[in-house]
Amino acid sequence: MIPLVKPIILPEQEKFLNELVHHPEYNTTGHFASLCEIWLESRFSGSRVWVVSSCTHALEAAFMALDLPAGSEVVMPSWNFVSAGNAAVRAGLKPVWADIDRQGNLCPESVERVITSNTRALLVMHYMGIPAQMDTLLEIATRNHLFVVEDAAYGLFSEYEEKPLGSFGHISCISFDHTKPLHAGRGGALVVNDSRWVDPVEKIIDMGTDKAAFLRGESPTYQWVSIGSKFRMPEASAAILWAGLQHYGEIRIELERVLSRYNRESGYKIHGRAGAFVVLPQEADRPHVIQQFQEAGIYCTFHYQPLHQSVFGSRFPAHSESLEHTNLFADTLLRLPLYAGIKHEEVSYIIHVLKQILRS
Ligand SMILES: Cc1ncc(COP(=O)(O)O)c(C=O)c1O
Repeated sequence: MIPLVKPIILPEQEKFLNELVHHPEYNTTGHFASLCEIWLESRFSGSRVWVVSSCTHALEAAFMALDLPAGSEVVMPSWNFVSAGNAAVRAGLKPVWADIDRQGNLCPESVERVITSNTRALLVMHYMGIPAQMDTLLEIATRNHLFVVEDAAYGLFSEYEEKPLGSFGHISCISFDHTKPLHAGRGGALVVNDSRWVDPVEKIIDMGTDKAAFLRGESPTYQWVSIGSKFRMPEASAAILWAGLQHYGEIRIELERVLSRYNRESGYKIHGRAGAFVVLPQEADRPHVIQQFQEAGIYCTFHYQPLHQSVFGSRFPAHSESLEHTNLFADTLLRLPLYAGIKHEEVSYIIHVLKQILRS
């Protein structure tokens, strides 16, 4: 079976893990984590970056850091992974669902419609690394005095107007899960683009302590100073991530090459950057299409269940928005395999099967 995603395997992963085994002190000093952070800070120039245990935890830390009044509203797309919803709710906030555009990103008009006097933050997610309409969304956020949390889980290989995704939120979050093209096994990153949150975030990721300042020699001891958790990335994950970062350029070229072949050779519009998808015609029988792909040995599938339709998410009513694009997108989207290392002939075969199934 050709899988949907396949974690990349690199010789440096074993080499760096082996180094870590022989240098257990790295677990304290964060040797590989620091190397990853330096690399990421050169991509997000002028920002502070910390590698953390997942994008889920990055989102939780981001909302902890914003420290908004309990019950404040956070506008976010219902078309999203559960982590953003959880992060807001765990911080005592109320998610408010906005609809999406045709690429799966926040629809600015819908955002405008759901903002109330109680809205304090906007969560922007870039679906599959396709940039959301940042100019308009940032203008709306500024005009309404909203903090922006950017969920750039899939964003490491994309830019918006030449700035990397993850540069736009006051605080932004990236995923290095094994389901992403560049991974740490499990991991994420926090990108702090506004200096007001550097200090709070540094404490939050160290269990709410000023341990980082202590390690820099700035204080004789360290203590509990705020809310927080053990969010920093474990060294074993950082060693795997550091291996992947050596190959960032090649991975990016491979993803672009596969996507451009999908588009050029299939005759269908295949969307995405760090993942690929096609939107099926409304009348298509998606479960049957998925079954046909799987019978042909290709794992294609659906993606998120809209949060407003989920058991827990339906507790937060959708204001006046019908969320019709979200509902339609969720029902008609089909994810296609995309990962570095997919073979030329596998891509040819996927395109061949795609054409056969979608034309029938
Ligand atoms: C948009 C989005 N945000 C956050 C996450 C959570 O990332 P992680 O698995 O690193 O916690 C995911 C997971 O795929 C996601 O799709």
